[in-house]
Amino acid sequence: MKIFAYGIRDDEKPSLKDWEAANPEIEVDYTQELLTPETAKLAAGADSAVVYQQLDYTRETLEALAAVGVTNLSLRNVGTDNIDFDAARELKFNISNVPVYSPNAIAEHSMIQLSRLLRRTKPMDEKVARHDLRWAPTIGREMRMQTVGIIGTGHIGRVAINILKGFGAKVIAYDKYPNAELQAEGLYVDSLDELFAQADAISLYVPGVPENQHLINADSIAKMKDGVVLVNVARGNLMDLDAVIDGLNSGKIADFAMDVYENEVGLFNNDWEGKEFPDPKIADLIARDNVLVTPHIAFYTTKAVQEMVHQSFDAAVAFAKGETPAIAVKY
Ligand code: NAD
Ligand code: COI
Repeated sequence: MKIFAYGIRDDEKPSLKDWEAANPEIEVDYTQELLTPETAKLAAGADSAVVYQQLDYTRETLEALAAVGVTNLSLRNVGTDNIDFDAARELKFNISNVPVYSPNAIAEHSMIQLSRLLRRTKPMDEKVARHDLRWAPTIGREMRMQTVGIIGTGHIGRVAINILKGFGAKVIAYDKYPNAELQAEGLYVDSLDELFAQADAISLYVPGVPENQHLINADSIAKMKDGVVLVNVARGNLMDLDAVIDGLNSGKIADFAMDVYENEVGLFNNDWEGKEFPDPKIADLIARDNVLVTPHIAFYTTKAVQEMVHQSFDAAVAFAKGETPAIAVKY
């Protein structure tokens, strides 16, 4: 049996080595290149392909992979929003993702960013770097004084709630499908509008499916408290970034942290040092004291990377054996 993997990064190689050592009977080959219509042929002869990428899995890409006989595709990440499922269905693809590799990685990052915004670490660090060691005016706010609104109480949102409880914050939450345990705790509000009206800070943990496109927009921002703090580590398309920038300009939004951006493909995980960003919005946001931009690194921990590699390769083997792994995507 042979597995071919695309887009293998150096930081994934130790986890891949561990997996190969535990599965010596499986032949593994890989490339650093991403899966595209042009690179699909590299998987010829393999039983399954393993991929991680932010590029779309277009009809053309899936057709090129199917043309070399590979219709088992195991993603090393959660998000499946970049797959052309109509094409995948027609071509009879088996697809898996890694829905739970380490919710803590993403939840922790979001709450670290929220704490940083509240304690104004960005302007304080900049002052210290200039050798200005005065306190004022960089006064912070305490987490326990905040009502934090969590939108989406799935795997990651629930870990974020536990972290917030540790800080002593008041948590309110909204989910289309409430979790029984959290419901029993009385954490849920009945509508997004209620959450917008009550929350001092709002953090998002819902998927970037089409119905959630621009969930945060000019109308929803208008319903939020003045001076609200926003955190988005979920998906870029959940926010109308122009509306967020307007909110920052007017002061309606006091602080903002983003790990994901609607137009992040080609921008994030690239080195722009000494070069101009192709997107002036990012340059503007990065320059602001009250905005934290990270390039889709919430997931990026050693534990998460190990789980992403191990679980995706296990699923690729299961597909190749004609089995349905527990993490197969039902579509
Ligand atoms: P999950 O599927 O476990 O939970 C999502 C929850 O959102 C579900 O409970 C669902 O009922 C709820 N939901 C969906 N649409 C909603 C809406 N309009 N209003 C209210 N609730 C809604 O997902 P998860 O694993 O917790 O992932 C959360 C987000 O984090 C996703 O957007 C995912 O793509 C993103 N993510 C980001 C990174 C990163 O590195 N930045 C890494 C992994 C996942
Ligand atoms: C995901 O797993 O969906 C992420 O957002 C992380 C990244 C590797 C795409």
